[in-house]
Amino acid sequence: MRTCCIHPSILSADFVNLQSELGRISTADAVHVDVMDNSFVPNLTLGLPVVKRIQAVSPVPLDVHLMIDDADRWAPEYAAVGAASVTFHAEAARAPIRLARELRSAGTRAGMALRPATAVEPYLDMLGELDMLLIMTVEPGFGGQSFLDVTLPKIRRAAEAIRGSDLPLVIQVDGGITKDTIVRAAEAGATVFVAGSSVYGAEDPAEAIAGLRRAASDQHTR
Ligand code: DX5
Ligand code: ZN
Repeated sequence: MRTCCIHPSILSADFVNLQSELGRISTADAVHVDVMDNSFVPNLTLGLPVVKRIQAVSPVPLDVHLMIDDADRWAPEYAAVGAASVTFHAEAARAPIRLARELRSAGTRAGMALRPATAVEPYLDMLGELDMLLIMTVEPGFGGQSFLDVTLPKIRRAAEAIRGSDLPLVIQVDGGITKDTIVRAAEAGATVFVAGSSVYGAEDPAEAIAGLRRAASDQHTR
């Protein structure tokens, strides 16, 4: 069976009580931290000082998703904080190969994200530089949007390319993940699932995490 990881996004958490909100997802595989700069995306969240504090108190590893311009300049700073993975957007990086190498040499897992309308094909030859490929399943910027089924063929093509090359990298999906959509994303080949509103919007986040994990694993064992 392939790995199945659930990464709740704190974008949907209560920002005034981040420490206790992190405690509610201690059964997750990692916490997804959305950094937005109101330029790459039309929304503003948090930056380095807050991520440092999250790293200090989180019961689970940090999966940092940078939706910011000038990724080449900023991504290594997030690696230095000790995040388990740092994901930059392909559209925001001037030198993605150099940046991925820099992240790995800083001891973090290197992730690269693609907006829904960005093709994966131009990046197939550099997959060996990455530990994670994030295929956005909504337009980045906001939580609570609906899953874009139009991204499923891209997930499938990326998964096929990875299988054909025997590379150890994983495919992450982010946006609109629920107990229903996770099944389609898993069937297409994703193995790491970000979920914001469907975890933090639930009465019991731990139960929501368990439910998502079950739905994805059932699909993987079929
Ligand atoms: C959106 C963010 C997501 C967001 C997902 O741009 O990257 O991580 O928190 O939220 P949901 O799961 O509510 O779509
Ligand atoms: Zn995200």
